[in-house]
Amino acid sequence: MANWINQITLNDHSTEHRYMQIYRQLKELIIVGGIVHGDRLPSVRQMAAHLNLNTVTVVKAYDLLEREKLVVKRTGSGTYVNDGKRTALLTGIAEDEWDQESIQLFRQQQQSFQRTVVITPDTINFASATPSPDLFPVDDFKQALLTVLDRDQGYAFGYQDPQGYQPLREAVRQQASLAGIRSETDDILVVSGAQQGIDLVAKGLVYPGDTVLIERPSYGGAMQAFFSRSARVTDIPLESDGIHLELLEKAAKETRPQLLYVMPNFQNPTGISYTREKMEQIIMLSEKYDFMILEDDYLNELSFHHQPVTTLKSLDRYDRVIYIKSFSKMFMPGLRLGYLIVPRTATQKLLAAKQSSDISTSGLLQRALEQYLISGAWERNLDVLTGEYRKRFDLMNQLLSNQLPEGVHFQTPTGGLNFWLQMPREINGQMLYESALERNLVFAPGRLFFLRDPEDNCLRLSIAAVKLQQLTSGIRLLSGLMNLRLRLDRPMKDVLSRYQDPIL
Ligand SMILES: Cc1ncc(COP(=O)(O)O)c(C=O)c1O
Repeated sequence: MANWINQITLNDHSTEHRYMQIYRQLKELIIVGGIVHGDRLPSVRQMAAHLNLNTVTVVKAYDLLEREKLVVKRTGSGTYVNDGKRTALLTGIAEDEWDQESIQLFRQQQQSFQRTVVITPDTINFASATPSPDLFPVDDFKQALLTVLDRDQGYAFGYQDPQGYQPLREAVRQQASLAGIRSETDDILVVSGAQQGIDLVAKGLVYPGDTVLIERPSYGGAMQAFFSRSARVTDIPLESDGIHLELLEKAAKETRPQLLYVMPNFQNPTGISYTREKMEQIIMLSEKYDFMILEDDYLNELSFHHQPVTTLKSLDRYDRVIYIKSFSKMFMPGLRLGYLIVPRTATQKLLAAKQSSDISTSGLLQRALEQYLISGAWERNLDVLTGEYRKRFDLMNQLLSNQLPEGVHFQTPTGGLNFWLQMPREINGQMLYESALERNLVFAPGRLFFLRDPEDNCLRLSIAAVKLQQLTSGIRLLSGLMNLRLRLDRPMKDVLSRYQDPIL
């Protein structure tokens, strides 16, 4: 038997199923070239004897490898490593051409949008989902910085613990516990923004060819991170109370995903929040089908109904949820600060990914944030932001309820910054976007949030950066433009059929 078989071991304390442990270790060996094209895997019986397991467990692991075309089974001869697949994985070329096309299309859409947006002080900006700088608590943060500089002197500028400044980890642990999340400081990893958190999870836990499930629609930055790992990304439709459970289970059964990426509160872009029942079902599914969940909590503080909102992490009885918190939306995006709460099984991998990315997040800023949090300034700022956003939210809700043309729908979110509008399918969203831009009004076109088959009739309006006094004129202008598009884009036959019916 080959020597490398001794590298395949089982961890009895892991929550990962045994067949998955075998499958992942073999896959890693194939990817790094530890087993090469044409190598024969030990027979099922040999592998089972080596690991002291029953043969069914090994068969399940080999089946998964076969389904990914990492091995081929030859009747009567054995199971062999399939080099073509390995080459594709190493070069990041998925074998599915159609998938590559949709990735290209997705990237082009993101790029063309980034190029066209020019924001001036007069722009009615429904596009940006981060607060405008006039809402940043500059004075309080300056005070925190000065306190840190006086106190820590040069220590604030040395390399920091890659896992994060310990007192900051303690402060955010306490913050998370107010949202019902029980954790220890060792479970917390400080990151340079939530985007880095997503990227580290992709880097540390997702291998080329792994399946990642996401919501449809979803946050483009996360899709980019998963694509960068040559993952197979599959989207599952959202319903008004969260992800479509039956379709999620079907996809989990068929694709055996490594990860599910979700935003259960005030989802970006739709604003949808999951019911607690749905969250619990998802946790059950993660255990049943053995996948991790990446919960992107970019905004839970901004609830206009009840506080605290429920998070998946607070329901995580199987230790499968990686929780990501951003400080961008309710604080200052340019600080590039966030944190992860990580299941023990994943800590080392994510820490290694962090170290190889940027060694550690800025020590000065971590220390200043900790000082800011414990000084009570965080709560004060939260009150200011919530008060300001509540005014914008209520007015926006009222304007949209009263002024949108017939056939344009939205669901009032229970919090957050985004309103998701669905127009009749025949509306050309691109033309609407361009005519709004000509009048200095911008929004985020819906197609940016779709992995494939973009729905051009959707758009996201954010209240984060638009001024309160611009809302009324902004929605009036947008509704007028939608009405125009409805007249121009609705096919003639549709119009005719409405008028002809009574006559014919
Ligand atoms: C859903 C979501 N997650 C993560 C991020 C990235 O946040 P950060 O600025 O903390 O990197 C964003 C930014 O817009 C976002 O909308």
